Amino acid sequence: MTEKKPYYITTPIYYPSDNLHLGHTYTTIIADTLKKYKEIQGYDVFFTTGTDEHGQKLFQKSEEAGKTPLDYIDPIVASAKELWKKLEINYDAFVRSTDPQHEKNVQDIFQKLYDKGEIYKSVYKGHYCTPCESYWTDAQLVEGKCPDCGREVHYHEEESYFFKLSAYRDRLLKLYEDHPEFIQPESRKNEMINNFLKDGLEDLSVSRTGFDWGVPVPFDEKHVIYVWIDALSCYLTGIGYGRVEKEFNRYWPANVHLVGKEIVRFHTIIWPALLMALDLPLPERVFGHGWILFDADKMSKSKGNVVYPEPIIDLYGIDALKYFVLREFTFGQDGNFVTEKFIQRMNSDLCNDLGNLVSRTIAMIEKYNAGIIPAADKKEDVDNELIQTATEALTIVEDYMESLNFSQALEEIWKVIRRTNKYIDETTPWILAKEKDEERLDTVMYNLADSLRIISTLLKPFLSHTVERISIQMNFNDLFWEDAGDFGKTAPGTKVHKTENLFPRLDVKKEVERLQAENKKLIEKRKKEKMAENNKDEIIEETKEEFITIDDFDKVKLQVGLIEKAERHPDADKLLVFQVKVGEETRQIVSGIKKWYEPEELVGKKVIVCMNLKPVKLRGVESNGMLLAADKGEKLTMLSVLEDIEDGAEVS
Ligand code: MSP
Repeated sequence: MTEKKPYYITTPIYYPSDNLHLGHTYTTIIADTLKKYKEIQGYDVFFTTGTDEHGQKLFQKSEEAGKTPLDYIDPIVASAKELWKKLEINYDAFVRSTDPQHEKNVQDIFQKLYDKGEIYKSVYKGHYCTPCESYWTDAQLVEGKCPDCGREVHYHEEESYFFKLSAYRDRLLKLYEDHPEFIQPESRKNEMINNFLKDGLEDLSVSRTGFDWGVPVPFDEKHVIYVWIDALSCYLTGIGYGRVEKEFNRYWPANVHLVGKEIVRFHTIIWPALLMALDLPLPERVFGHGWILFDADKMSKSKGNVVYPEPIIDLYGIDALKYFVLREFTFGQDGNFVTEKFIQRMNSDLCNDLGNLVSRTIAMIEKYNAGIIPAADKKEDVDNELIQTATEALTIVEDYMESLNFSQALEEIWKVIRRTNKYIDETTPWILAKEKDEERLDTVMYNLADSLRIISTLLKPFLSHTVERISIQMNFNDLFWEDAGDFGKTAPGTKVHKTENLFPRLDVKKEVERLQAENKKLIEKRKKEKMAENNKDEIIEETKEEFITIDDFDKVKLQVGLIEKAERHPDADKLLVFQVKVGEETRQIVSGIKKWYEPEELVGKKVIVCMNLKPVKLRGVESNGMLLAADKGEKLTMLSVLEDIEDGAEVS
């Protein structure tokens, strides 16, 4: 037996700052599908994923939650693993960047680079964006703000170790030239050259001193290794770098690093340069995919537009979710997640095209041939057309898969499905039955069964559950990939048996509402869980609607207030501290609206104040009352009065 060839795939390691959403799931589904595909083709595939657990942002998040970083991160990592289990993602290594083994390997890598003179100590100066954990030069800022996220930056100088990235510019350009397949899609390569390499590269700061949630620099414990050397090394440590040399040598270099477009730069500039510095061979290619957007915006919890995969899986199954993300979004480009489209595709592609083909075929073989697949003896031209479409699909699908074009690969399979459905309409088996043309009817039944075999074989890497369900009904035993290129491999005499419809027909409007409601419920549930856990001072929204009486309403004392002063909270990014005049008295009120308003904008505004809310301390500052605001998910707006009215006026 010949030894299987190794194939190594990676996804990024995800930040466990929050539960993973559909965007993260996308990369992982792609990696898993590619793994299945390569395995079917006879490769020995290794797939690494994991979580990127160090850095200031995660440290801050854990602090806000009043927890140690690991206490904060552990449940999120557990929920990520749960999600991959639910989706039956078959990874081989899950690297947590806080694994002691990984940390040790990262220190060894850093030491090695230092010993080789690739890393030196200097001073870093620049504008720092804490949420992005990035330094920016004056020229890079956009209107004085972070060019990535648009948030405030602050000027900062600190001692730092630097990697001599600038020395690698020419080698990188040569790499791109000699290996045009290294960065894909092609457009991303041009972006890298034009935006980062054309005018020269700067050395890269690779350590920090301002916080200690990271891997310590082995020879200078004041510094922690800054995220990218730590995170990127997971691709090496996942396959045993510095630990299991045999395994490492077997799988390295990676065949494909799958990454989102915003981190292509790290994977195609910093990563190959680091590998060159370490004298390690370079990965074959880095594929930068687009984002799944929601209402044309990037999904994010803070924008309130997160789509979680769990409700989709619970309601419609793994295959429906996989089919949608692989089919709907052109790999490499951004695409919108539209719930209607998801349900519509289930109806048109899965239920109508595939589901109907399977159920019609089996029902006819049961009706006309007592459930036994007959032999085919009476061929006609129309058969050749079907046979050609079915047998030619294999190489076309393989070509598309080679360029990671999952959407077109599926479209190609659907061409066969649609062609086979058309074949039923063209051959009209019910008329053949009526006319008692049994020989021809047998041929048609056989051709349908064998086309289904080819379709099922091609679908195996994508929709394994569906293929299994078809195989049970059609009694397909082994579906060999190479056989998808041949017609006639189904053994006549095979007994078929109709048991179930593959996909139900869905009422689009009803299902859209149901899915959106389930997603919302999950968002609320997670929000509540987090708040309960953190025992935080934020207001928990009730999702359940309950009526209150007028007496209940009267208990809430609302009055018009005039904002006299507004300042940033000294210890919390999201909070503003207001002095609000309400008639005779002035109240101090802390409100979580910093994201939507600058403090100055609100001074002099009339607002509505809930006066009898129990006083609380929010991050150490006392708050007496609450300012009312309307929440539209992405935007909060303060409530005010239409006409000018004295502060202190009662609201009823
Ligand atoms: N931790 C780094 C990666 C280090 S890899 C050595 C990171 N983590 S992340 O959690 O922010 O993002 C991980 C991946 O998820 C990225 O490739 C990113 O593009 C992807 N996605 C996050 N949201 C996404 C969408 N809405 N759509 C598609 N993918 C997106 O970056």
